[in-house]
Amino acid sequence: MPITLPKAAINLNGEILAPEQAAVNIFDRGFLYGDSLYEVARTYGNTFLHLEAHLDRLEQSARLCHMTLGQSTAEYRTQIYRTLEALRQDYKKEGKPTPEVYCRIIVTRGIGKIGFGLNCLLSPTQYVIIAQPFDPFTFEQVQTGMKLQVSHRLRNDRRALDPAMKSGNYLNNLLAYLESSSDGFDDALLCDSQGFVTEGTTFNIFYVKNNIIVTPPLDVGILDGITRRSVLEVAHHNGFETRECRFPKARLYEADEIFMTSSLREVFPVTQVDHIKPGQGFPGKVTVQLRQLFQKQIREWTHS
Ligand SMILES: Cc1ncc(COP(=O)(O)O)c(C=O)c1O
Repeated sequence: MPITLPKAAINLNGEILAPEQAAVNIFDRGFLYGDSLYEVARTYGNTFLHLEAHLDRLEQSARLCHMTLGQSTAEYRTQIYRTLEALRQDYKKEGKPTPEVYCRIIVTRGIGKIGFGLNCLLSPTQYVIIAQPFDPFTFEQVQTGMKLQVSHRLRNDRRALDPAMKSGNYLNNLLAYLESSSDGFDDALLCDSQGFVTEGTTFNIFYVKNNIIVTPPLDVGILDGITRRSVLEVAHHNGFETRECRFPKARLYEADEIFMTSSLREVFPVTQVDHIKPGQGFPGKVTVQLRQLFQKQIREWTHS
C-alpha cells in the first residue's frame, strides 16, 4: 500500500531529494545497530537557533562513540541551510507562506558488511538532513502544560550508553514514552539506579521551590541540553537563584512549579507529575516569566 510521507526536504549525503526518493542503504550501520548520532534544531525566522552549539555537540557525541565524522561542522551547517532553502522553495512554488522549520541531522558510522569491526566498514559516515514544517506550540498547549509519569525504566547509566552522547539509539526512552502514554500521560521522566531524577525522554527537567530553580547536574547522567544551558544563564542573569543538584522524585511532588526545556519546547510548563499537580495544575509564575525571558533572548539571538 502506498504511504503518504510527511512534507519535507531531504538531504542525503549532499543530494536534495523529495521524501519519496530518499532511501537509506540496508547495510547502513545506523539501520543495523543504531550506530548513529543526531541533532535537532528549529528556525526562528531565517535562522536556526544555536546551530553552532548543536554541531559542536554532534562532534562531542562523535568523540564519545569513537566516530570520525566524514564532514566538517561547517559543511554540515552549509548543507542544513541548503535543505532549509529547498523546503522554502517548495512552499514558494505552492504560493504558501514559509513556515518555521524543524531540522534533524542524522549521521551514521557508514555502510558496511555485517559485523561490529571497523574493518567491516565500506564507506565513510553517511548523513541525512530532514527539514520539515514546524508548528510552534499554541498558547492553549502551553497553558495546559505536560503531564509526566516517572517511568519505572531507568535512564541509561553513564557507564553503559552515556546519555551525554546524542545517539540514534533511543529505544529505552521510546519505551518509557510509550508506556507513559498508554497510562494516559503525555511523556515520561527517568531516574537513575539510585532513584535520582535525570531527565525526560527528550527534554531536561527543572523544578522551582521557594523561588529557587533546581535541575539535575550533568554528572547524574543526562544530555547536556542546549536549552538547559541557556535557561540556566538567562535565569542567572535575571537574578534567579539556580542550583544543579541530585534529587529524588519526591522533590518534584513537593515543588511549587515544574518545567521542562528542549530546543522545540523552549521553557514549557509541567502541570502534573504522576498524580501530583503542582500549582493546582496551572503553569507557575517563575515558569511563565522564564519562558518570556527566554523567548525575548531568542529574538535577540536570532533577530527574529
Ligand atoms: C534525552 C534528552 N534530553 C534533553 C534534550 C533537550 O536538549 P536540547 O535542549 O539541546 O534540545 C533532548 C533533546 O532531544 C534529549 O533527547
